[in-house]
Amino acid sequence: MFGKLLSYKQQGSKVDLLFENQKMVIEAFQEQILNVFVPIQSKEHYSKAVDFTKKSEVRLNVNWEDESVIIQTSEITAKVYDEGKIDFYNREGVCCCRDYRMDRIPAPCMSQETKKLMESEGHKVEDEGVPHKIEVVKAMEGDELFYGLGDKTGFLNKRHYVYEMWNTDNPDPQVDNFKVLYKTIPFFLTKRKDCVYGLFFDNTYRSVFNMGKESENYFYYGVDEGNLDYYYIAGDHLTDVLTNYGKLTGTVPVPQLWTLGYHQSRWGYEWESEVRDIAKKLREYHIPCDTIHLDIDYMDNFKVFTWNQERYDDPKQMISDLSNDGFKIVTIIDPGVKLEEGYDIYDTGIKNGYFVRDKEGNVYDNWVWPGTSVFPDFGNPDVRRWWSENQKFLVDMGVRGVWNDMNEPASFHGEIPTDVVFTDEGRVTNHGEMHNVYGHFMAKATYEGLKHYDKRRPFIITRACYSGTQKYSTAWTGDNHSIWCHLQMAIPQLCNLGMSGMPYVGTDVGGFGSDTTPELLTRWVQVGCFSPLFRNHSAKGTRFQEPWAFGNETVNIYRKYVKLRYKLLPYFYDLFYEAEQKGLPIMRPLVLHYEDDVNVQNLNDQFMAGAQIIVAPVVNQGQTMRMVYLPEGQWYDYWTREEEKGGYFLKEAPLDVCPIYVKAGSILPNFPNMEYVGQKEIRQLTLDIFEGEGSYIHYQDDGESFAYQEGEYNQYQFTIHANGVFCVELLHHGYEPMYESFRILYKNREVEIPFCGEKIEMNL
Ligand code: GLC
Repeated sequence: MFGKLLSYKQQGSKVDLLFENQKMVIEAFQEQILNVFVPIQSKEHYSKAVDFTKKSEVRLNVNWEDESVIIQTSEITAKVYDEGKIDFYNREGVCCCRDYRMDRIPAPCMSQETKKLMESEGHKVEDEGVPHKIEVVKAMEGDELFYGLGDKTGFLNKRHYVYEMWNTDNPDPQVDNFKVLYKTIPFFLTKRKDCVYGLFFDNTYRSVFNMGKESENYFYYGVDEGNLDYYYIAGDHLTDVLTNYGKLTGTVPVPQLWTLGYHQSRWGYEWESEVRDIAKKLREYHIPCDTIHLDIDYMDNFKVFTWNQERYDDPKQMISDLSNDGFKIVTIIDPGVKLEEGYDIYDTGIKNGYFVRDKEGNVYDNWVWPGTSVFPDFGNPDVRRWWSENQKFLVDMGVRGVWNDMNEPASFHGEIPTDVVFTDEGRVTNHGEMHNVYGHFMAKATYEGLKHYDKRRPFIITRACYSGTQKYSTAWTGDNHSIWCHLQMAIPQLCNLGMSGMPYVGTDVGGFGSDTTPELLTRWVQVGCFSPLFRNHSAKGTRFQEPWAFGNETVNIYRKYVKLRYKLLPYFYDLFYEAEQKGLPIMRPLVLHYEDDVNVQNLNDQFMAGAQIIVAPVVNQGQTMRMVYLPEGQWYDYWTREEEKGGYFLKEAPLDVCPIYVKAGSILPNFPNMEYVGQKEIRQLTLDIFEGEGSYIHYQDDGESFAYQEGEYNQYQFTIHANGVFCVELLHHGYEPMYESFRILYKNREVEIPFCGEKIEMNL
């Protein structure tokens, strides 16, 4: 396709390469990030993910060497050859990522006859081997492990699997060989024996990632439209690559503190009385809870930005009453607008041309919850502005967060045809290009509306997203089922979302579809209390899933883990501060911190919460004992404080025990018992110290406003030495009130230390 490499021209951090049949641009975004751009459809990037204002000027060394052009930053060397082949080297000169020089050898396509025969029994037959207009085929050397790719099903390591990027609402129970789900994050990390790197393919059209399924010799990316536009991201460790990906596409902003509490949801709480009753029970059973979610039934006939007057006497009053008891209300908003003349959202959208149209110019309709519905053209900034303005209706009611669902976009009468006309900012394009960013733009519009009307940090949950959506919204993994394999899958799925720059994520605790069991719910809450978004949600028609629906044992264990979450809230909040600064996830696979430990590279049933805690939950029915693996070092059992060395061991885990291990030298900040965030003013912070050497940075702000971005926050550094010397230092003082004292838990002792901002050093 490219032909011979003829010449190059360097302009600052950008190199134009001319081949016989094609142009290519290689540009440094930063020292550790190189962009490869082949303008096939347009000269522009049209990126929805990358923030080009963050690009830095990089000094490049560019030369011919033999038959190749060498492009060098201080961190990466790219060698470009004929046919557009590129090899990437790291600082040490290791060739980390090499273009495959031979042709792909796809499995032969099946004959039509064979296909028909198989289809007659209901088999779905797909030809994976079909060539794509744009293909990047990279050599596999045999030691590659792949992580990331968003919310895909299956296991942590994506090697040997194939995935597609096409946001899809498929309510069937998700299994390992699902190729598509709700989200498109075309980014993955590669770990090899002597190097790591990331690749981000920034093209919104439907694309394929074949991670060595077709051959042991290569993995490939394929897409049929748009440009070839990808980023090679270097770093010394996986954590560096993730941080660099965060620089490219943005990081999750610190959320409001209450959003990290427990959320209770169900499709659906249909009546005001039901919502009040759920709130009452949560308090009666002393299950700490901050948020109740209202699914589609709160609306009038599923019409967005309306409230059902029959079922809710006075929603505003209800929200205000619940708020007095510490509850925040989050409401669902779908993109589909009911086609109904006289309904103001529909009428305004029609009048202004805000809905997408078919090729003939007629407003396109399909079917979703409200019946025949039309779809806002979110790529159009005017439409986003209008959608933002509509959030006022919710904010005025007292709603504190918005849950964006069905924004793949889902449509019940077949998928929206790819040629339906959509807008991309000022440009006319089609559904094929905008499909995978529909949820992204909807979340962005919602974010801007909430920010404007509510002023606090917006809380949004989205089902569909694209790379970069983390700047606007959290996400959940959609319609899982109450089955054990979905609890198992939740771990690699959430970890891989974190490894895809999307740290604020969760699964429906207990499972959405099908009926949960007391045991499954109990084991799920033990994982859920460590997942960044902690929400119990279930579908209509399934067994009620609120914790009290299953008897005393379940409710007691459930409470224990929700309380644990509230106790660890300051730890989670600190992790979010780190996530904003460094792009690191909250829930992490062990491989992120122990990348050379072969025992964790494929570990699917354990995870880390930050860098200090390892959780080894039970995810099998009937199991009360499990194998735990801890990486080299000194660890403590969180519950018993018993010491554990690295390695494999058996751990008893009766139903009420989720094995949790804390690294020696950890200092975990704890909040006191509470029913909801803000119930108590916290002037004393408890520090739970695990013997050893370590230091910990703790972050504190008002928990809801944007003032932290202007410096209104405190940062404390706590240090523990092996000899028991403990030190507190205020690194940044911008927020009042500071803590007045610290309560130290150390070696079965309790010490209270008053604090007035001065450095403290003492022997514990
Ligand atoms: C979709 C969502 C689910 C929600 C339901 C009704 O299935 O994924 O969470 O409860 O729609 O709104």
